[in-house]
Amino acid sequence: MASAASLPAYPPIGAPEKFGWKLVQLGRGARQMVRTALAGSLAKRPAHVPPERVVDFDFIRQPGMEHDTYAVWQGLRGGPAIFWTPRNGGNWVLTRAEDIDTVLRDHETYSSKSIGIPRGSSTFRLLPIEADPPEHAIYRGLISPWLTPRAIGALEQDIRGLTIQLVEGLQERGHSDFVHDFAKRLPIDIFLKLVDLPLGDREKLLRWTEDAVRASSLQQRLAAFWKMTSYLDHWITLRRRRPGTDLISQIVTAEIAGRPITYGEIQGLLIVFMLGGLDTVASMLGFVVRFLAEHPEHRRALVEDPGRIPAAVEELLRRFGLVNNARVVTRDHRLGGVDLKAGDIVQVPTGMAGLDPDLVAEPMTVNFERPKIAHATFGIGPHYCPGAFLAKMELKIFLEEWLKRIPDFAIAPGDAVRCAPGMVNSFDKLEIVWEPEAAQ
Ligand code: HEM
Repeated sequence: MASAASLPAYPPIGAPEKFGWKLVQLGRGARQMVRTALAGSLAKRPAHVPPERVVDFDFIRQPGMEHDTYAVWQGLRGGPAIFWTPRNGGNWVLTRAEDIDTVLRDHETYSSKSIGIPRGSSTFRLLPIEADPPEHAIYRGLISPWLTPRAIGALEQDIRGLTIQLVEGLQERGHSDFVHDFAKRLPIDIFLKLVDLPLGDREKLLRWTEDAVRASSLQQRLAAFWKMTSYLDHWITLRRRRPGTDLISQIVTAEIAGRPITYGEIQGLLIVFMLGGLDTVASMLGFVVRFLAEHPEHRRALVEDPGRIPAAVEELLRRFGLVNNARVVTRDHRLGGVDLKAGDIVQVPTGMAGLDPDLVAEPMTVNFERPKIAHATFGIGPHYCPGAFLAKMELKIFLEEWLKRIPDFAIAPGDAVRCAPGMVNSFDKLEIVWEPEAAQ
């Protein structure tokens, strides 16, 4: 272990806290290990949960989800609108747009203080996402200026350049595991550009983010988090010594309610910014490509008229809402005829709002002509995704540049698709093929 003397200098509030904070992470990690072990077992039904509201549903391991995550989620509409599952520690699950809207808007009754399932499964406090208003606004104010349409507009040419470079690197191959070769790479390059870090660090960051979110063993996940936070430590220290005009410099020199920002807050903000922007966009790219690979008529419509791409992006975002975060109930009350108790966990699958037949006719059908629908794919209320504009731009540029060069592609034969449902619905594998000669 490094001695205190060998560590980079940090202002007084940071140094002792930095060690304490890392120990806290390890403590949380150990607790998480126990929770993960328990996740496979069934939680006991609490007395206030009526038996008719219990559905044995596991949002990570439900059979069938590895092929079509959304068909399984949609199948839940046959049961109670709000149900309780004994899986992953036991929690309520919402299935209707109206309830999703109510819960996401009312932060006083449904707190974001722990958004993971099982409860407390994050290894650190995720900021701004695990802060409730009014505290939330302070943290959000540090990152949202970097994601405004104006700030992102200035990056458009860079995003296009990175996209073209990646597509052209694949064009001649005629096959790809799209998740590995493209979907994860584009957002990480954009993240590095946004925070002004070397593009050469892409491969190791990719490996760590992948392990941090999806490694099967918790030790691997913790080790990846450790490496990631140590990597960020290095840049935090450098930017603190010599601040520039970038996002990291702004965060490390910020004041929170009149005091210097703490080390834990810096890491919490940077990690959410990084993972928020990487995993979600990569996953959405995966759903878009799988859909277009399986629906040549939709693909052709966009190739023949790229002007339809912005509307197609909106429709695909509606159809494939990804994020399944939770809220913690703060007081006993009733929602949709169900008694909820303080401390209960409510899972809010944002994708189910855009698939609600009360909101959208034939919701499972992708229709690029559909008028814009108020889906919840980017959330609702105070935590509405500040990266929505960037995400839409990435998806639009991707479709424009990919379809120009690889207009025809299909799912590879054999075992080519494996979905990875979870807090963010995603893919482990998505193998596609195309004729290199037909690519332009
Ligand atoms: C298709 C891509 C994306 C989707 C579907 C998505 C979805 C979401 C959702 C649903 C939330 C709210 C979660 C909740 O209320 O619990 C959220 C929050 C957030 N997202 Fe995104 N996101 C995407 C892309 C991005 C990008 C590109 C960035 C930035 C680089 C980003 C950064 C964030 C941050 C920082 C928050 C927390 C906001 C807060 O707590 O106020 N996201 N996102």
